[in-house]
This record gives sequence, C-alpha cells and structure tokens, in this order.
Amino acid sequence: MQYQIALLRGDGIGAEIVDAAAAVLERIGTLYGHTFNCTPYLIGGCAIDAVGKPLPEETVAGCLASDSVLLGAVGGPKWDGLAGDQRPESALLGIRAALGLYTNLRPATLFPALRDASPLRTDLVSAGFDILIVRELTGGIYFGNRGYRQGKYGEEAFDTESYSVTEIERIGRAAFEAAMKRSKRLTSVDKANVLETSRLWRKTMHKLAESYPEVEYQDMFVDNAAMQLVRNPQQFDVIVTTNMFGDILSDEASQLTGSIGMLASASLGDGTRGMYEPIHGSAPDIAGQNKANPIAEILSVAMMLRYSFGLEAEARSIENAVDRVLAAGCRTADLLGGQSGSALSCSEMAQKILDAVVRE
Ligand code: IPM
Ligand code: MG
Repeated sequence: MQYQIALLRGDGIGAEIVDAAAAVLERIGTLYGHTFNCTPYLIGGCAIDAVGKPLPEETVAGCLASDSVLLGAVGGPKWDGLAGDQRPESALLGIRAALGLYTNLRPATLFPALRDASPLRTDLVSAGFDILIVRELTGGIYFGNRGYRQGKYGEEAFDTESYSVTEIERIGRAAFEAAMKRSKRLTSVDKANVLETSRLWRKTMHKLAESYPEVEYQDMFVDNAAMQLVRNPQQFDVIVTTNMFGDILSDEASQLTGSIGMLASASLGDGTRGMYEPIHGSAPDIAGQNKANPIAEILSVAMMLRYSFGLEAEARSIENAVDRVLAAGCRTADLLGGQSGSALSCSEMAQKILDAVVRE
C-alpha cells in the first residue's frame, strides 16, 4: 500500500526526533512492502520565522491531503513574547481543530526494563502498569473565549470553559470503546464538585455508561486522580477526561514511566486520518545537541500504523524493537535519571531501534 504522510517537524528537538521516527517508518515500509511518501510542512516558530504565521494555510491543506500526520513539537523562548494567538502553540491547537481531532489517546505504559527509572517505589511498580489516558482535544478551556477586561481590581484576564453534550458524548464513546477493547475499566475524571462543565460531563458519561453495561465505570475528582496516580497507578486502565485535565494528568503519568520522553500520542477524529506526536514539548534547552529521547516519537509512528492504517503487526514490530533495546540497557540521558551509566545520543538510540526492527 501507498500512504501519504505529512511531516511537521516544528521547533526545538522536533526535527531530530521526527527524522529518527521517519527512518523507522521507512524501515517498516521496506520490511512489509508499504510505501510511505513523506512531505514536510512548516508549523510553529519555524513557520513564524519563514512565512510570518505559526500555521500556514499550506500546512493545513497538506495535512488534509495526507493519510496521516506525524508531528514533532512546537515552541521555544524565541517566540514566548508573542500574543497568544500568534504563538507557536496556537498552531498546535489550530491544526488539531482543523483536522477535527477531538480524541487524544495517551498510553502510559511502564516498560519492564524501566522500572528503576520510575520515581515510584519498586513495590508500587513491580507489576507494571498500562494506563490509557483519553483526553478531549478540541474543546474546553483551551478553546473557550478568552481575553482581557477591566475588572473590580483593574485589568484582569479570563479564560472560559464550555462543553456541549455532543462534545462530551463523542469523547465518552471513544473512551468506552477503548475500554471495551482492554480490561473494560473506565475512570472519568472531572471536578464536578465545583465546575458546571464537569457536572454536565458526569451526567453525560453516566448516560453513556448505560449503553456499556460490561464496562466497570467510576467517576473521580481530578485532585484525587492526581494523587491516586502516584499512590497506586495499577488501579487505572482507561481514564477519560477534559482537555486541560488530560494535559496535566498525562504529563504526570508520563513521569511514572521513567521519562516524559517515553509517551506517544494519537489524535483522532471521525475518519482514519490522525495526527501522531509525543506528549512532550520542543525541549529548547537540549535542542540541536543530539541529546533528545526519540522513543516517544518512534512510538507515535507505531500508533499511526495501528490507528490510521490498521497495521497491527507493523506497529508491534516497532514496540517490540523499543522493548528489546531498553532491555539491552540502552538509555538516553533522560532515562538515566541521575543514575550512573553512559547515555546514548538521540541518533545512537534511533539507530539501535532501527537495527532492532524486524518483520515478526
Ligand atoms: C501537549 C502540549 C500542548 C497541549 C501545548 C504545547 C499547546 O502541552 O500536547 O500536551 O497543551 O496540548
Ligand atoms: Mg501537555
């Protein structure tokens, strides 16, 4: 099969990790007889520098004309002074909305070899954990009305959160469906003791739960969920939550797996086109130094193969290669976490994984 892939390298470490992942994709193509035609487009700070805006029309059109999108990361100190809607990050929200990608799957899995890299006590992670965070991606406070106004104490800023029943239903359905394919346990995270949006969220989830009697469903307040994640991550299977809570909890969960450099994500809508990206940012402090961990981006390619193209065996080839390389003791600097041992560079880690990818 032939697939058209839009490559959005973005800023900071984006280029290093996307190129590493694209090489893995090409290897999969060779091993399994697929052709992946990759076309690069600008997004984020590099697009501001080149054409004056973070999300050029050409990029949106290119993504819409592709079967799938592979993204690195956007942002950096160079563009931090810009107004909100001109910042690199606004392009990320813009492309997610333009492609209708309202479901964000963020799996937080502890690779057995990384148990020592987890900051949690060994007894808490000895059995491992495998959590899927389903984050709503195109609504909520990240997309609500915002601005500045004169308030009681002078100038003030505001952001608003709103969620429609339709938006909650579609992310809820995606989460229940995901739970049905796993261990049939779903935790919906909200703040229904305070927020009106959360009360509607909870009510809508309860109604959906009636259609999924096999799924063991529970509600949890977000503050408690943040605590439970570090107290006992094994209790969770699928977690569904809003845009902002999912953003925060997925960073927290990533750290439990050893490093934020491990977490991949899939952003999906109603069709098969998706956007795949690591959950981490552009890491300007190590950009251009060949120090980044390419694993989250490489695992994002595996998610692309699985969710957009239905290529399960190919996806597993990549995941197994990562597993083997970690089991062999290969570590980038972020995975050493202060322990002794020598760190591999980004390109060295990428090469190890590339060499370990075999047709299974
Ligand atoms: C993420 C990032 C983005 C988000 C930022 C950069 C806009 O933190 O993908 O988690 O909040 O979605
Ligand atoms: Mg985030």
